[in-house]
Amino acid sequence: MSGKKFSLQNGETGESLELPVRSGTVGPDVVDIRSLYGEQGVFTYDPGFASTASCESKITFIDGGKGVLMYRGYPIEQLAQRSSFIEVAFLLLYGELPNAEELEAFEQSIRTHTMINETMLRLFNGFHHDAHPMAMVAGVVGSMSAFYHDTTDIQDQRHRDIFAHRIIAKIPTIAAAAYKHAVGQPFTYPRNELNYAANLLHMFFAVPAEDYEVDPVAAEAIDLLFTLHADHEQNCSTSTVRLAGSSGANPYSAIAAGIAALWGPAHGGANEAVLTMLQEIGSVDQIEKYVAKAKDRDDPFRLMGFGHRVYKNFDPRATIIREACHRVLAKLGRTDTPLFDLALRLEEIALKDEYFIEKKLYPNVDFYSGIIYRALGLPTSMFTVMFAIARTVGWVSHWREMIIDPEGRIGRPRQLYSGPVQRDYVPISQR
Ligand code: CMC
Repeated sequence: MSGKKFSLQNGETGESLELPVRSGTVGPDVVDIRSLYGEQGVFTYDPGFASTASCESKITFIDGGKGVLMYRGYPIEQLAQRSSFIEVAFLLLYGELPNAEELEAFEQSIRTHTMINETMLRLFNGFHHDAHPMAMVAGVVGSMSAFYHDTTDIQDQRHRDIFAHRIIAKIPTIAAAAYKHAVGQPFTYPRNELNYAANLLHMFFAVPAEDYEVDPVAAEAIDLLFTLHADHEQNCSTSTVRLAGSSGANPYSAIAAGIAALWGPAHGGANEAVLTMLQEIGSVDQIEKYVAKAKDRDDPFRLMGFGHRVYKNFDPRATIIREACHRVLAKLGRTDTPLFDLALRLEEIALKDEYFIEKKLYPNVDFYSGIIYRALGLPTSMFTVMFAIARTVGWVSHWREMIIDPEGRIGRPRQLYSGPVQRDYVPISQR
């Protein structure tokens, strides 16, 4: 506790209550309201948790006003420029950057656990050919709890480590199997000599009929996107993983719940929605019309890839990715993509518009990530799956932190009930 206090006064009784205030290392203080219900018989009301810290965490810090994002204290700009996804994964999981030996051992462990049980592969045959890959990935990841009974004692640190390595190593293989099923190609087995991003591209794009060589530019782009997407503190899917896991549920099920939450267009599904929206807009001369639709309160249309619950200045990931987008498209020789031109024009128009300025709506990470994935040859329906692969590292890190948190309890929010008061059952003949 910081020693600071926050006073609340009950407007009816005049009684006041002093609540303890807790300070973190950076960021706003929090008022500890745990005694509120017991002492005053009231709950707090905060739909969407906009003012509620649901836990204490040491993993990721965001200052939405200043556009700051740090993993374990390291600014995202430095990690994007100088680190790699696997090193970032180690950092998020274990709290510190690895030394050379630790990094090699971690990478080796991930590289050598990429294969999935053959019977898991057969699950894909049960899905219709046009099943959305997110549905397949959520289902198959959930099924992992049926495969690894030996290591799901969540109180055992070794089991937690095995789970962490296993899910991080295998999720690209599961994602690739979903992709291959969707395009009707045979599954490509992982190759352990390749790094995380290169292996993923190999599993996606290699076919038995010809040789496939991973383009290092593409692998580098994936590594960067994964680094940027690896964690984002208590977002919707991460909170879902924590909540599902707080009951002591099997960790694979908790990750599957996170994948399901990520799928929504207000969250990870936005990268897919951005491309769909750009295709719908179609040409630069249509932009004004769609911007007007986005501003119309009676029209449910929103500019996908714009706005963020936390970032009210700029999304630092978007700044990095925007620049990477230019670089990657140039290196891949795809600068002439009309969708990218359209995206840039839309960004320019929206950024000058009073509505977007006033509501502090800036392009977010997903505004650009889809354009890069598209340039790498991935179908739109795979974009959110790519996000899920990267975010698995964050989910697992938060799940681990939650399991050993001495203050951790089952997540169980309260409510403001506004339904009918007690009434008597009416027999059907009298209704
Ligand atoms: N287009 C038009 N208007 C918008 C948009 C948008 N993209 N986003 C927010 N607004 C308006 C909204 O209508 C509201 O207006 P008013 O005050 O008049 O009612 C105001 O801005 C505040 O919006 P909100 O919905 O209360 O804000 P929120 O914090 O609840 O939602 C958001 C944040 C990201 C869900 C929302 O901005 C949105 O739906 N954006 C589009 C989807 C998107 O790009 N999501 C990806 C987020 S980044 C990746 C990730 O972290 O998952």
